[in-house]
Amino acid sequence: MSFGNTTQGFIIFLLATSLLAVGATRTIVVGGSENWKLGIDYSVWANQNKPFYFNDTLVFKYDLPRENSTGYSVYLLPNLRSYATCDFSRAKLLANTTQGSREGFAYVLNKWKPYYFVSGEDNGTQCYPGMMKFFAAPTPTRH
Ligand SMILES: *[C@@H]1O[C@H](CO)[C@@H](O)[C@H](O)[C@H]1NC(C)=O
Ligand SMILES: *[C@@H]1O[C@H](CO)[C@@H](O)[C@H](O)[C@H]1NC(C)=O
Ligand SMILES: *[C@@H]1O[C@H](CO)[C@@H](O)[C@H](O)[C@H]1NC(C)=O
Ligand SMILES: *[C@@H]1O[C@H](CO)[C@@H](O)[C@H](O)[C@H]1NC(C)=O
Repeated sequence: MSFGNTTQGFIIFLLATSLLAVGATRTIVVGGSENWKLGIDYSVWANQNKPFYFNDTLVFKYDLPRENSTGYSVYLLPNLRSYATCDFSRAKLLANTTQGSREGFAYVLNKWKPYYFVSGEDNGTQCYPGMMKFFAAPTPTRH
């Protein structure tokens, strides 16, 4: 390994640790390059991308409704039971079908609670198991 690489690696290490020390927050695009859409199991995505930290920002990016597609949205369900059964009676709309276009809809995890995210179009069927639903429970920022 050359001296240059070692020095670079050390500088990157220093930068990384100093960012963590001030509680740097992250911006995470839900679904990565796939964004927010049908055909992805977001529980799997969330499992692969956890832990989520307090003050992390989740960005939901999705296509506008178009022919043969009602589009997508972002709802917060109040608890595990409503999440499991896709009960929207006390759901809170975070972003409607147009708010995920362009740079997407950004949402900060700034409460100590589990967040139950689902998409609510197609009469709630997008919330079915293995589809557009996941939960994120922020853990404390590392120091
Ligand atoms: C989260 O962000 C808010 C607003 O920027 C800030 O006041 C708070 O100290 C942050 N909390 C943590 C634990 O990083
Ligand atoms: C929408 O669905 C109809 C009926 O299945 C089909 O004829 C049409 O080509 C579809 N349009 C698009 C843009 O996929
Ligand atoms: C979505 O919300 C935005 C901002 O509140 C609003 O301007 C827009 O009309 C809404 N779109 C739909 C389809 O409800
Ligand atoms: C949603 O429900 C309404 C009313 O029952 C029905 O007319 C419509 O076809 C349903 N849409 C879908 C996508 O299932």
